[in-house]
Amino acid sequence: MQAGGGGAAAVTVVDHPLVQHKLTMMRDRDRSTKGFRELLNEIGMLLAYEVTRDLPLEAISIETPLQRMEGRQIAGKKLVLAPILRAGVGFLDGMLSLMPSARVAHIGLYRDPDTLQAVEYYFKSPSDLADRTVLVLDPMLATANSAVAAVERLKSRGAKDLRFVCLLAAPEGIARFQEAHPDVPVWTAAIDSHLNDHGYIVPGLGDAGDRMYGTR
Ligand code: PRP
Ligand code: URA
Repeated sequence: MQAGGGGAAAVTVVDHPLVQHKLTMMRDRDRSTKGFRELLNEIGMLLAYEVTRDLPLEAISIETPLQRMEGRQIAGKKLVLAPILRAGVGFLDGMLSLMPSARVAHIGLYRDPDTLQAVEYYFKSPSDLADRTVLVLDPMLATANSAVAAVERLKSRGAKDLRFVCLLAAPEGIARFQEAHPDVPVWTAAIDSHLNDHGYIVPGLGDAGDRMYGTR
């Protein structure tokens, strides 16, 4: 299902029943830290399947036990997975299990609780971003300050082909992200109602990083 518009790249809502079922389990306030983490990992795999659906393929000649044939493989350089710390790391293992040779860029950002601005504390990425598809990972697109900053940073390092993958998005965050980066498509499992006065997604699932790491 696609949403949004206005000349910006598409927002795809991954409304697959498995994703929706697992997302509802994650939203439940009584879900354990272990359960939350496992579900995020599983949904990461399912989102990876959707976000890579249109990757270009190239022919490769191989030999089966019976004869030579022309198979297909993903063309070009390995993808880059770019989780925004901390919560984005929750998608990483699931995605790496499907794309084990992907490169990883770590982007350390936290949201200042008063200003809601993103503050960078760490950045490490492969140097050849210009030649690779980069999947930026963060479960929560709230004000989009973190997502906008992460994509800006990756673009300043040469990235040109970026995709943003999240679990929950607020309409306000989608609008802000599309305004800042109209060239970057978004995949999300759901678009929720709105942001509250503290910049939390409603109904949401609370603080994703805290729920993942048991730090609430
Ligand atoms: C959370 C979340 C996103 C960000 C989203 O991170 O994981 O990175 O907030 O909010 P935004 O769209 O308004 O920027 P947080 O700053 O709480 O850090 P954490 O992941 O380390 O807990
Ligand atoms: N970050 C979170 O972890 N949750 C929200 O609802 C908003 C930002």
